[in-house]
Amino acid sequence: MDNDKIFHGNGASRKKTEAIMKVLIVGSGGREHAIAWKVAQSKKVSQIYCAPGNAGIEQIATCVPIGAMEFEKLVTFAKENKIDLTIIGMDDPLVGGIVDVFEAEGLRVFGPRKNAAILEGSKAFSKDLMKKYNIPTAAYETFESPEEALQYLDTANMPIVLKADGLALGKGVLICNTLEEAKEGVKSLMLDKQFGSAGNKIVVEEFMIGREVSVLSFVDGEHIKIMTSAQDHKRAKDGDKGLNTGGMGTFSPSPFYTKEVDEFCKKYIYQATVDAMKAENRPFKGIIFFGLMLTESGPRVLEYNARFGDPETQVVLPRMKNDIVEVFEACIDGTLDTIDLEFEDNAAVCVVLASDGYPESYEKGFPITGLEAFEGQDGYYVFHAGTKLSDGNIVTNGGRVLGITAKGNDLKEARENAYKATEWVSFENKYKRNDIGKAIDEA
Ligand code: AMP
Ligand code: GLY
Repeated sequence: MDNDKIFHGNGASRKKTEAIMKVLIVGSGGREHAIAWKVAQSKKVSQIYCAPGNAGIEQIATCVPIGAMEFEKLVTFAKENKIDLTIIGMDDPLVGGIVDVFEAEGLRVFGPRKNAAILEGSKAFSKDLMKKYNIPTAAYETFESPEEALQYLDTANMPIVLKADGLALGKGVLICNTLEEAKEGVKSLMLDKQFGSAGNKIVVEEFMIGREVSVLSFVDGEHIKIMTSAQDHKRAKDGDKGLNTGGMGTFSPSPFYTKEVDEFCKKYIYQATVDAMKAENRPFKGIIFFGLMLTESGPRVLEYNARFGDPETQVVLPRMKNDIVEVFEACIDGTLDTIDLEFEDNAAVCVVLASDGYPESYEKGFPITGLEAFEGQDGYYVFHAGTKLSDGNIVTNGGRVLGITAKGNDLKEARENAYKATEWVSFENKYKRNDIGKAIDEA
């Protein structure tokens, strides 16, 4: 790292003799802050840029005001600034083909090409893939005609799950308890186009019961390396009530991700998915995020994402021992089999501090105080999501504002530490869930 960007609180700066790489990270959330923080520790990196970034990322990287979907501008920036590696954090640019655009210009980039990012970009594609290659998942049907979907519902068991085929900001999934709700759901997705063209096609899926686990992995087209497990809390309110959000908090590892679960997934899900993509001539290089449901009859894939999870990344990367840039490069070069991923034998919990009202309407622009409390505190991290600099002050700028992560020897200690640290920062309309990691007590 160069001298004018020293990390605050989130880790000590180090001397790096081999540090020559310039890295560009595309995105602006807590996930990208966690990636930037981890990249900043790489012995290979001299400078980090982030487009567009946020006020926290700004402390360790140079933020450039280019949007994640402005591919041509990003390419020009990468060329002009001799960027050695670009890392794509978000789903939209990946599904939109940013990796193909960078590769066509001879630029080195981490993430799946468009024809592989479809694993997240189309739920119908991913369900058909799982069916074809016998990867365990919920039974389903896909529909392009609302009439046929409605007819099918008359014969189906409730509850049932409706999913918009395309990207819908994580909100395109409707769990319907009654036939009436399900019919309303088909209408809003397919006729009223609540999520635009994402609802041109829908997946109607069997409702599964069980615990959810998120498993992130690195993939190089052929080989896959699994990171430690995590669990997200998607609903806005305590007790898993309220609307679905991007994620209100996470813990890692998941005590429910047992050795048996791991063995099952290694045998039937992880490598099988990578092999299936290769067999379809869509080799996947990048991150595969396996959203798993641990049902009575074994683990099932709920969904795939083609990128790091948010806020899973905020608990997984602080526990990772490897130099992440070496792992990114191994994925690009197809040499992931030579890497041993290592994680600390401890735990981490992330509690999201949101703007009250999220995921619906909320106010922005309130000053955030107390951030300096994290400086020099080993094992405590404040990852910025929706923040920006305004007249030299850091102010709230989104629904999810900060991710407060803390480590501990075990999950309970990590949870205590994380909740303690949520009190260090203040802003008007600060909202958090109070039961992140409550499931730990049931393990
Ligand atoms: P997704 O965006 O596919 O992760 O779905 C959002 C949330 O909906 C998941 O995290 C689950 O809690 C829930 N969900 C999705 N599919 C199913 C299913 N087949 N059965 C039960 N819950 C589901
Ligand atoms: N935390 C869930 C996601 O990133 O989609």
